[in-house]
Amino acid sequence: MKIIIGSDHGGFELKEIIREYILKKGLEVQDVGVFASESVDYPDYAKKVGEAVASGNGDFGIVVCGTGIGMSIAANKIPGIRCALCNDVYTAKMARGHNDANVLAIGGRVVGKGVALMIIDTFLNSSFEGGRHNTRLAKIRDIEGE
Ligand code: RB5
Repeated sequence: MKIIIGSDHGGFELKEIIREYILKKGLEVQDVGVFASESVDYPDYAKKVGEAVASGNGDFGIVVCGTGIGMSIAANKIPGIRCALCNDVYTAKMARGHNDANVLAIGGRVVGKGVALMIIDTFLNSSFEGGRHNTRLAKIRDIEGE
């Protein structure tokens, strides 16, 4: 499994921890930056991660900014991306089970390292439930196409 990760300065510290954690789990990781803690614009990094996932270059994406909000808004502008902002384990499970989210957004200034890594484990280990949720995802795709 290949995970594309990216952050702005608000998520930089947590993104570095996430990269090491994913590598330790034996998964492939592609880090699109930012590579230092200087101030940058989060849409630039949300776009890089979203485009990589939407084009099939990675299985899932993880984006981190201060709150996770800006990254999730920006990533969701890319067709085919279903980015879920999850700052707790329950929403991480539901994001995969009900929404088939392909990008996870986390707030680097909202959750600590321990919770963030539990969120990631939960997201990656949960599966889309299909069934009635397929109808709803099809309606999201319809909106995207309008
Ligand atoms: C940067 O200060 C901050 O606005 C950004 O990381 C993020 O929280 C935006 O949603």
